[in-house]
Amino acid sequence: MRVPFFNYQARFEEDKEIIKDIVYQVGTSNDFILKENVSKLEMKIRDYTGAKYAVATSNGTSALTIILRAMGVGPGVDVLTPAFSFISTASTIALLGGRPVFVDVNPLTGMMDPIDLESKITPQSRVVIPTHLFSVMADMTAITKIAKKYNLRVLEDSAVSLGARMNGKMAGMLGDIGLYSFFPAKPLGGIGDGAVIVTNDEELGRVCRMLRNHGQDGITRFLHHHIGYNYRMDETVAAYLVHKFKRYDSLLERRSQIGSCYNAAFSNLNPQIQIVNDTTYTRVYYTYVLQAEHRNELRQYLYGKGIETQIYYPQVLPLQRAFNYLEHKKGDFPNAELMTKHSIALPLYAEMPHEHLEYVIKNVLHFTSRVKTNA
Ligand SMILES: Cc1ncc(COP(=O)(O)O)c(C=O)c1O
Repeated sequence: MRVPFFNYQARFEEDKEIIKDIVYQVGTSNDFILKENVSKLEMKIRDYTGAKYAVATSNGTSALTIILRAMGVGPGVDVLTPAFSFISTASTIALLGGRPVFVDVNPLTGMMDPIDLESKITPQSRVVIPTHLFSVMADMTAITKIAKKYNLRVLEDSAVSLGARMNGKMAGMLGDIGLYSFFPAKPLGGIGDGAVIVTNDEELGRVCRMLRNHGQDGITRFLHHHIGYNYRMDETVAAYLVHKFKRYDSLLERRSQIGSCYNAAFSNLNPQIQIVNDTTYTRVYYTYVLQAEHRNELRQYLYGKGIETQIYYPQVLPLQRAFNYLEHKKGDFPNAELMTKHSIALPLYAEMPHEHLEYVIKNVLHFTSRVKTNA
C-alpha cells in the first residue's frame, strides 16, 4: 500500500465545479481584490472566533509582518519567539529590524517554555509570540501572565489552529492579536495563499487594516497614513474560503477522529514513542507529530512500507544559517534541539482513507514491537 503524507487531489475533489465557477465569476467581474468576498470572509471569521476585528491578508507571513509593525517592532526592539517553529515567527521580526530573542520549548510539547521565556526578557522586550504547532497549544495561561507582569504584548501565532479552543476562547483570541493561515495544506486550506488577522483591540485592528493596503484608510484613495504594504487578499481566494467554511467543523471533526485513533494506539509506548495527550483544550489536528526514540529508523521503516512522513522541523531556528548573525551555538536550546532529532509527523488529513490510518498504526506498532524484541 502507498500512503501519502498529504493528498491535495482528494482535498479539492469535492470542490472542482465550484472552483471553476469562482474563477469564472471573479475573472469576469470588475472586482478582483479586497472586495465583497473578502469582506464576507472577514465577517465569517469574526462570527466564528468572536473577534471584534478581522483583517484578511495575502498570507500568514504578511499578517505577522503587519501585526509586528503595528505593535511598533523595529530597530532596538526585542521580540520573544520560540526556537522551534516555522521561519515566519522569527524572520518577520528580523525583516522589520527587530531582534528575535529565541526561547526554548517544553521537551514534550515543543511549545514555548514559560520559565525560559521569563529568563530571556530584556529591557527592550515589547512583544512575545507564543506559537501553536501541529495539534498542540502553547501554555497561554502562563505566558499571558508573564506578559502582563512585564508589560509585553502577546501576538498569538495561531496560523495552523483555527478552531482550537482553550479556557473558553478560540486560539488566536487568547492574547492581544492572532492570525490564521489558509495556505492550501492548512486545516482551512484555500486555493492559494491567504490569512486573516483577528483582534479585539480597535487600534491594532485599524492600523493592521491600513498597513495591508499601503497605509490607506479605505475611505480616501491615495491618502497614505503609513508606509504600508501590498499584502491584500484576492477575491478568488476569499470566495473559495467562504464556500469551504460551511463544512469546516465537519472537516475538523474528521481530523480529530484520526488524531484520537493515533492517540489511543500510541498512548502506552513510552519511552519509545511519546505523544501529547492533553485534553485541557480542544485541539485542531493540523499535523500529527510524535516523539520517537529511534526516529530515523522509524521513518526509514515506514518509508519501506510505503508510508510517507515529514520532519517538523529538522533544524531549530537560532541555528539556521539565516540567523548566524545572532551567534547562537549548539546546546543553547537543548529541548528544541532534541525535538529536531525525535519528532516525526504521520499522515493526517480530513480525506485520509480509514485503511491508510489503520495501516500506519499497524506499522508504527510493528516497528516498536520489533525494537523492543531486539533490545
Ligand atoms: C506557525 C506558523 N506561523 C506562520 C506561518 C506562515 O503562514 P503562511 O505560509 O501563510 O505565510 C506558518 C506556515 O506554515 C506556520 O506554520
